[in-house]
Amino acid sequence: MWPYPKIVAHRGGGVLAPENTIAAMRCGLTHGFHAVEFDVMLSKDGVPIVMHDPDFGRTVAGEGSVADFTAQELTARDAGAWFGEEYIGEPIPTFEQVATFCMHNNIWMNIEIKPVPGFEDQTGWVVAQATKRLFENKLAYTPAALPLLSSFSFEALQAAQLAAPDVPRGFLVDEIPQDWNERLHTLGAISLNTNHKNLTPPLARAIKEAGFGLFCYTVNEPARATEILSWGVDGFCTDRIDLIGPHFGSAEGHISPSAR
Ligand code: G3P
Ligand code: MG
Repeated sequence: MWPYPKIVAHRGGGVLAPENTIAAMRCGLTHGFHAVEFDVMLSKDGVPIVMHDPDFGRTVAGEGSVADFTAQELTARDAGAWFGEEYIGEPIPTFEQVATFCMHNNIWMNIEIKPVPGFEDQTGWVVAQATKRLFENKLAYTPAALPLLSSFSFEALQAAQLAAPDVPRGFLVDEIPQDWNERLHTLGAISLNTNHKNLTPPLARAIKEAGFGLFCYTVNEPARATEILSWGVDGFCTDRIDLIGPHFGSAEGHISPSAR
């Protein structure tokens, strides 16, 4: 089951913009993407913010942990300068800011719950609650009208399940565990989201035959994308939104942009 877009822009704009910022979401949109993946963790005061690393140093200058700073302090930090001069001043956004941007622009969201270690339960709960509030009037609709919450943290997804049972969940794994079927059932998940590097055709077949959606991260080569789609993979996220367009793999995707 995968009622969602097939090709998803990873961290907003892949490698073309500073990840997990509003500028990244805008970049994905400019490339025609109406589907994004981004990462969410909690500030010290429990506000969901959009960031990948639990510590400063790579995309945000400085040292220390995200969990030691309030949302007000975090959203004053620069998350764009590392990427290029034109992005200086691009802030760490809150989840609410990114979700609002996506909802206004009709962008589907794969919200990855990325807890700072030690905050799994709380992060799953808060992010699911916040998502539920944003989509309150759509909860009675089909899953296609809703975002997908995913996480590598089983615990975070269990908390999300308790907080917002009607918001769909996908279990993220690097390597597919032996007991994947049982875990997906326990979480009431609709999909397995996995590293394409560790997927095999028999595993793909088994997951699809069990009735689950199958999503892969992070596929950056068109030939590999074609290969895994032929195995029955429903969708994947990509950093190379310049090479793999939003209609890749569909009839429309074979028409060159200039001919459209
Ligand atoms: O959600 C898919 C993918 O983003 C998982 O890995 O580390 O890029 O968040 P990561
Ligand atoms: Mg992610």
